Amino acid sequence: MQYTKNNSKSRKSDTNTLFICFSSLLVCLLVLAACKPASNFALTPTPIRQATITVEPTASQAPPTLRQLADQQKWLVGTASDPAYLTNPQYTALLDAEFNGLVGENVMKWGRLSVERGIYDFSKADVLMDYAARHQMAVRGHTLVWDLQLPDWLTQSILTRDEYKVILKEHITTVVGRYAGRIVAWDVVNEPLDAQGHLRQNFWFQAIGPEYILLAFQWAHAADPEAQLFLNESFAEGLNEKSQGVYALVSGMLEKGVPIHGVGMQMHLRLENPPVPEDVAENMQRLAELGLKVHITELDVRLQDAPGSRDGKLVAQGVVFEDLARTCLAAENCEAFFTWGLTDHYSWIPGMTGKDDEPLLFAENWQPKPAYWAVYAALRDAILAAQP
Ligand code: XIL
Repeated sequence: MQYTKNNSKSRKSDTNTLFICFSSLLVCLLVLAACKPASNFALTPTPIRQATITVEPTASQAPPTLRQLADQQKWLVGTASDPAYLTNPQYTALLDAEFNGLVGENVMKWGRLSVERGIYDFSKADVLMDYAARHQMAVRGHTLVWDLQLPDWLTQSILTRDEYKVILKEHITTVVGRYAGRIVAWDVVNEPLDAQGHLRQNFWFQAIGPEYILLAFQWAHAADPEAQLFLNESFAEGLNEKSQGVYALVSGMLEKGVPIHGVGMQMHLRLENPPVPEDVAENMQRLAELGLKVHITELDVRLQDAPGSRDGKLVAQGVVFEDLARTCLAAENCEAFFTWGLTDHYSWIPGMTGKDDEPLLFAENWQPKPAYWAVYAALRDAILAAQP
């Protein structure tokens, strides 16, 4: 069966086949190929940019989900979450079906864990960890050392350098130690650089000096030698002064023997100004040559400031997601693709911009958006390309 360009927005489903149609100048319509069980999918390559999609109407089983494809490719497709959402059955149905990775959007941040010095409340973080374990999801830990979302007792303190070192070491040892063996990767240090690629004079820089970064990685490694330790940064995915700064920083850390295993690329993007995929690929490659992994850690693509119709923007958003998914899948060291939230309903972006930015893979009504199908197509093509 062939579905061709259709200018009216419509949705249709039957028991075996799901599809979603968004109207626009560029029609984005992808329907999943019929499949065999998860270990051996029958998939048809259909790039999202094409307006015509081939559908195999022979499905006797549900088509594979994004998660099943990701499992097959040994790729992590994850999302930021919060225990408050995990009581919503619509939310959890989608989460369990489509994602094999999870990260706490806020629950592992210092200010949430410890409102008093030396006193920790892990109950919310534990809910997330237990959920992930029950649903065989890999967890990224976010984040140990950041200058935001710190507890008041800490930001209001006036202590010596040595005292701050003790506090930071205690925190890292406590949190990493608690979840040792259960976190696949920690964002040890979050957002250490400014736009020019220099160390920001943030809370930790002022408290301890530039060594805070090296010390944090060493303490984290001591607390969980198996965890992959990441430096997570924003706006450093392409080739620019900031990504040059990340490269210089992590190169220097490796030369000093600091236990760092990867770089997180946050990717809070704007539709009108996405990174150039070739630049992202080159950036990933130079990190691979250092022996470092890359995770896309917080992807969302806000729409509101871009010109054009909403439907056109949703399709263009899909292209951004697709480019990044393909770039990550093609890179030898890019193992994870995390979005910063599951549906547009749960995104932090509208709260920040005050605009209905629709930055994620699923719409407010839980339906997959063109962005979902774009990532799906990229992943399916990677699987097909790997088949003999
Ligand atoms: C954001 C959360 O999504 C919000 O809920 C919270 O109010 C502020 O922090 N970079 C990061 C994330 O590393 O921790 C931030 O998360 C988004 C920007």
